[in-house]
Amino acid sequence: MAGRVTTRTFLEMKAHRDRISMLTAYDYPTARMCDLAGVDALLIGDSLGMVVQGHDTTLGVTLEEALYHTRMVARAAQRALVIADMPFLTFQVGAESAIANAGRLLAEGGAQAVKLEGGREMADTVGRLCRVGIPVLGHIGLTPQSVHALGGYRVQGRTAEAARRLLDDALSLEAAGAFGVVLELVPAEVAQAISQRLRIPTIGIGSGPGCDGQVLVLHDLIGLGEGPGPRHTHRYADVGAAIRDAAGAYCRDVRVGDFPAAEHSTSLGQGAEDVLAALDGQGSRRPAEPAGPEPEQRPYGGKP
Ligand code: KIV
Repeated sequence: MAGRVTTRTFLEMKAHRDRISMLTAYDYPTARMCDLAGVDALLIGDSLGMVVQGHDTTLGVTLEEALYHTRMVARAAQRALVIADMPFLTFQVGAESAIANAGRLLAEGGAQAVKLEGGREMADTVGRLCRVGIPVLGHIGLTPQSVHALGGYRVQGRTAEAARRLLDDALSLEAAGAFGVVLELVPAEVAQAISQRLRIPTIGIGSGPGCDGQVLVLHDLIGLGEGPGPRHTHRYADVGAAIRDAAGAYCRDVRVGDFPAAEHSTSLGQGAEDVLAALDGQGSRRPAEPAGPEPEQRPYGGKP
């Protein structure tokens, strides 16, 4: 599909049975690579509290932090839809503050949509956001901001009653105007059944292949973290090992004097003698030959 992905594209993709790919992103370079790779949506998840900030839960992420990371991702994305996750307590307190906070994620952060956790109990707020022009992606199943209420990170919707409640949640979000809904850690059969009953796409994580799209946390996908990662993920690369190897090789090279080599710095060339003599106050009175114009170079990588 050519052109920028929008919330409308999500609905069209569902209608055409095209599967939606979504990844989390938290910074410019990884967002850039994912955008270039063709991912349909980039989610600045509050998982950043766990995979970037090193906390055990997502609860401590603030709106200012979400804004900071959203700006970096928005700067990088040229094709993908940029969705900012609303941190804990930035939308649960009331619809007015939810609108103000979501509005900042769009106006100051550059996101095109927000995501928030919760089902029926959030439907009014979702409706209010949608009516003022803020597109909302819902999120039900395992909602990590409720980890303490749920008694841990567990699969949700395993009983008939719990599955029915999940379907009601999803239908309420759709009726409120959400353009999609994340189903996190929902049994595959339940996720598929919900997906079949909705007009808006479902985006699954740990919820099987019957969803209309999939989302993964980038750090799990690229192996940037310690340990094996959650069961529902697939490690497509081992960037953690690549970083450890590269950093280790650099440390060894510095210690034995193999880095930097001659090509990593600038030499004065012919003017060296005069310049060095001037340091001891012995330079000739003759002004040193001006060196040729020094080519400009970015001090750090990042952009072509
Ligand atoms: O915070 C997050 O990254 C998420 C996704 C895993 C859906 O909510």
